[in-house]
Amino acid sequence: MPEFIARHRVVEIGLDRIIDTVNNEIDEFGVSTIEMFYVHKTEEMCCILEAPSQEAIKNHYTNAGLVCGYIAPIERIDTKIGEKSERLRAIGELAARLAHDLRNPLSVIKNTVEIMESKQVLHIEEKIIYYGRLRRAIDRISHQIEDVLDFVRPTQMKFQKYLLNDIINSALEKIVRPDDVEVILPTTFVYCICDQTKIEIVLANLIMNSIQAMSGTGTIKIVLSDTPNDVVIQVSDTGCGIPENILPKIFEPLFTTKQTGTGLGLASCKKIIEQHGGLISATSRENQGTTFTIILPKQFVSKKIEKLVASN
Ligand SMILES: Nc1ncnc2c1ncn2[C@@H]1O[C@H](COP(=O)(O)OP(=O)(O)OP(=O)(O)O)[C@@H](O)[C@H]1O
Ligand SMILES: [Mg+2]
Repeated sequence: MPEFIARHRVVEIGLDRIIDTVNNEIDEFGVSTIEMFYVHKTEEMCCILEAPSQEAIKNHYTNAGLVCGYIAPIERIDTKIGEKSERLRAIGELAARLAHDLRNPLSVIKNTVEIMESKQVLHIEEKIIYYGRLRRAIDRISHQIEDVLDFVRPTQMKFQKYLLNDIINSALEKIVRPDDVEVILPTTFVYCICDQTKIEIVLANLIMNSIQAMSGTGTIKIVLSDTPNDVVIQVSDTGCGIPENILPKIFEPLFTTKQTGTGLGLASCKKIIEQHGGLISATSRENQGTTFTIILPKQFVSKKIEKLVASN
């Protein structure tokens, strides 16, 4: 049976007369009251009714000597359908973004190949230019695909004890860094039980963002600390900083301020750190720089490992 909402102004009609219209049993018009609640702000009594039609509700009230000014059907939201369509919407948005982002480097590849084909001889200078262009376009495509996969791929975590300093070095090895960007490495050696590949992805994302925020010159400082309960990793840069109004959005999937960004880097970082039971946050000052802080609780990971050992 369809559901409707009817609203009554209490000051005009009086509470008693409204309550008189409440009927749990279905009346001669096929109407029954399911619920009533008072809305302070508008001073209205709202009735949720089951009825065959809006007309039937009007008759129900007329019969009780009341005129109801507002009756409207209720669209009940099925939460499962809601969740599913939310997921589908997110996937659609992601696919549209990916298709859009891949179009540019793909057309660069297509045009470059066409130019190369049209030339009978390629001089060494031309080769350097064209192959460089192709490589950059291919790198962009693979970066975008990796970003999406890091974010959507469900993966099993592999926790082991690692020296975080080694993970930092291996993340740095995979990144092309401008000569004038200096990296200050941690002065302390800190071990951590974590998933090495995942933490490397996090660090690579943070370092890449720092490099991109610096237009070629600046300093990235990575600090490690070992407290009784947590391991803390801090990545600071002297880049452009993040405006206050966008700072709360940076961990949202698909949020980007870059022409060629997918906006999944920090969302993946957050997901990975949460899978370690940890927290990631950012502080920033415009035109001065940004600091990302990761807190990895030791307790969480050792509990996970205890559970694994117990189940094996
Ligand atoms: N170190 C930083 N300095 C300044 N802005 C930053 C920094 N790190 C992140 N941001 C801001 O946060 C946004 C989101 O970052 P995120 O890494 O999620 O996506 P992206 O870098 O834009 O794209 P992708 O990482 O997918 O290539 C960036 O577009 C940028 O505006
Ligand atoms: Mg990024």
